[in-house]
Amino acid sequence: MKLLHLDSSVLGPHSVSRQVSAAIVERLRQSTPGLDVSYRDLTQTPLAHLTGSHLAAAQGAAADTSLHEDLAAGRAVLEEFLAADIIVIGAPMYNFTIPSQLKAWIDRILVAGKTFKYSAQGAEGLAGAKRVIVAISRGGFYGAGTPAAVGDHLETYLRWVFGFIGIKNPEFISADGIQVGPEHREKAVAGALKAASALNAA
Ligand SMILES: Cc1cc2nc3c(=O)[nH]c(=O)nc-3n(C[C@H](O)[C@H](O)[C@H](O)COP(=O)(O)O)c2cc1C
Repeated sequence: MKLLHLDSSVLGPHSVSRQVSAAIVERLRQSTPGLDVSYRDLTQTPLAHLTGSHLAAAQGAAADTSLHEDLAAGRAVLEEFLAADIIVIGAPMYNFTIPSQLKAWIDRILVAGKTFKYSAQGAEGLAGAKRVIVAISRGGFYGAGTPAAVGDHLETYLRWVFGFIGIKNPEFISADGIQVGPEHREKAVAGALKAASALNAA
């Protein structure tokens, strides 16, 4: 069984989402002997934003040599995603949504004919057999019923993205209120780590 672990926080060792995503992977590693784990740090090796040249190349146009390396990186990212049974993602909230590095990854895995297709019934996801677990960290509170709930474009966005490609039940572990104060941060991190340690086995 293959697990793909992604991180996208720019805060390195100070990152909450990195701490929680690592705990999730550790929990699954312990409960699944032989789990094959690969890791991609989307901030250390960022993917370029899509351009018109990328889209033309995807339609079969000859790509400029300057784009070859980047197109190969995009193909590798897609193959890595397709090969994974489980994807664990560290996803901090930056300006109410995911970091642009994670968006650049999503832009490479939502590919017609690979992870979704259009049919007479509309869009159909092709990646449904995967398990996705997301470690979210947010400075404030965005839970149902809170005044800022409408401002969350992180969890709602990722639910939609993964649902679109057929993964209807992505799992989320959240550490919220990280910027409220040190005590709250400690409590939120402890709660998220506890939830990670209680995850169902792979
Ligand atoms: C550039 C930047 C933008 C942020 N924007 C938000 C935001 O819109 N809403 C929020 O609740 N917290 C925001 N925060 C706080 C982070 O979500 C919080 O610190 C979280 O722990 C970041 O995850 P990380 O520790 O894994 O990097 C922001 C932090 C940074 C660095």
